[in-house]
Amino acid sequence: MAWSGRLPCFLSCLFIYTLSPCDSHPHWTLPVRPSNDTARKVSDVATEVAAYADVAKQIIELAVFGAAQNRSYRRLADFTDTIGNRVSGSANLEMAIKYMYSALTQNGLDVHLEPVKIPHWVRGKESAEMIVPRVKNLALLGLGSSVGTPPEGIKAEVLVVRSFDELKQRASEARGSRVVFNQPFVSYGETVAYRAFGASEAAKVGAVATLIRSITPFSINSPHTGWQDYQDGVKRIPTACITVEDAEMMWRMSQRGQKIVVRVTMGAKTLPDADSFNVVAEIPGWQYPEQVVLLSGHLDSWDVGQGAMDDGGGAMISWEVLSLIKDLGLRPRRTLRTVLWTAEEQGGVGAQQYYDLHKVNISNFDLVMESDVGTFRPVALQFTGNDAARKVMEEVVKLLAPINTTKLETHAEGTDISPWMQAGVPGASLHVADSRYFWFHHSEGDSMSVQDPQDMNLCSALWAVVSYVVADLQDMLPR
Ligand SMILES: *[C@@H]1O[C@H](CO)[C@@H](O)[C@H](O)[C@H]1NC(C)=O
Ligand SMILES: *[C@@H]1O[C@H](CO)[C@@H](O)[C@H](O)[C@H]1NC(C)=O
Ligand SMILES: *[C@@H]1O[C@H](CO)[C@@H](O)[C@H](O)[C@H]1NC(C)=O
Ligand SMILES: *[C@@H]1O[C@H](CO)[C@@H](O)[C@H](O)[C@H]1NC(C)=O
Ligand SMILES: [Zn+2]
Repeated sequence: MAWSGRLPCFLSCLFIYTLSPCDSHPHWTLPVRPSNDTARKVSDVATEVAAYADVAKQIIELAVFGAAQNRSYRRLADFTDTIGNRVSGSANLEMAIKYMYSALTQNGLDVHLEPVKIPHWVRGKESAEMIVPRVKNLALLGLGSSVGTPPEGIKAEVLVVRSFDELKQRASEARGSRVVFNQPFVSYGETVAYRAFGASEAAKVGAVATLIRSITPFSINSPHTGWQDYQDGVKRIPTACITVEDAEMMWRMSQRGQKIVVRVTMGAKTLPDADSFNVVAEIPGWQYPEQVVLLSGHLDSWDVGQGAMDDGGGAMISWEVLSLIKDLGLRPRRTLRTVLWTAEEQGGVGAQQYYDLHKVNISNFDLVMESDVGTFRPVALQFTGNDAARKVMEEVVKLLAPINTTKLETHAEGTDISPWMQAGVPGASLHVADSRYFWFHHSEGDSMSVQDPQDMNLCSALWAVVSYVVADLQDMLPR
């Protein structure tokens, strides 16, 4: 992440095993489509969904205990070990897209690429050193879209503040200084404002540069990067994140009244937009191929670490769903479509373009799903939709009893699916045991060593059961 059917009861057991009209894959289907929707009741939905218990067990069995065990983990390891990190505009991201296009095609899926223009920011060489009161190297990571410094760097006296309010109170001390934000970590959603807006807020009071404490609850001297936003009409000053340890040290020094001088050199620059693609793979629905359940994760990452957790895991479980459904010879009524977004970290650029292009067909988007807070042990499904849709989803998650994840929570999240959800399309995201997510997020620590194969199996199973069943119900989710 960058920032945040129903049928009459008497028919419900009458599943018939039949052959799809489009190919030889067997699938489960229902013989009759009831004509009067309003006549059907919630209890009918419960019965319809409950009839998927056996299919759900098969999916879970295959993903967690069977031949597909650890497959999404192995795929993620191959992918990240081969490509490495994949920042927007980089040759690595292009390689990653080609790699996935070829892997998905070899998996026998319908694959295509949709072109997108994406931002191309490069970090360049960067370093930071405290000169006064003593010489100390400071680990730093420039922030996406930051301008660089002159080649000789910027040497300036430091003003350390703990909040935007304190910066306003001490505005007179800020002119010509380097503002160091030592804000405490409250939550990512709240504290990330310092990374996102710290540079412009400091520039407004005359600062020449900023250093911002990394947005993380835990640190072993690790700087964490991420996107930042310059405000229009405000001077653009260089901005980078430093470690929690160094921010706290400078705060203590300033509290003692010590003068602090730091020199920062950053080679960052923004190049013209680059060509990229969203990668789209699908299993077409046998009955309503134009209707879609969308699964997704983003393929791009930051230019540090390996992008295994953010968001290689989300991308791989969204691919794994198609593999599992295919392995079981299933084919749902509606299309199961996996989209691997490009340039999520730059503000959901690929996803926004996908929405703009495909919103003409918004009435055919049944459910949009995104995994982008890690693929740790799943604990619940987060869902955004109206009460009627929630009632259906409450039945669907009951099918997850074998993996103990039958909880349905409010509010799905995901930068890439938010345009759809804002326009009223039901959305779903994974709630995982993510207490460690921000330890590694956007840092060198985001590697395969953070991932656990069994956790990924469970995520894949949950993701597959939910998407397959919703895609195969008689009716689209109410909205
Ligand atoms: C559908 O069923 C409801 C409830 O029984 C009824 O009020 C309505 O008139 C029916 N609509 C149609 C189109 O048959
Ligand atoms: C899957 O990973 C787990 C945990 O590392 C391991 O115990 C198990 O043997 C692996 N299974 C397969 C089929 O590789
Ligand atoms: C909209 O849906 C129709 C019918 O499935 C399809 O032919 C068309 O390509 C879709 N348009 C876009 C922009 O996705
Ligand atoms: C689910 O919970 C039961 C009972 O606590 C336990 O025996 C089982 O191993 C759990 N299954 C998984 C996949 O975690
Ligand atoms: Zn992400």
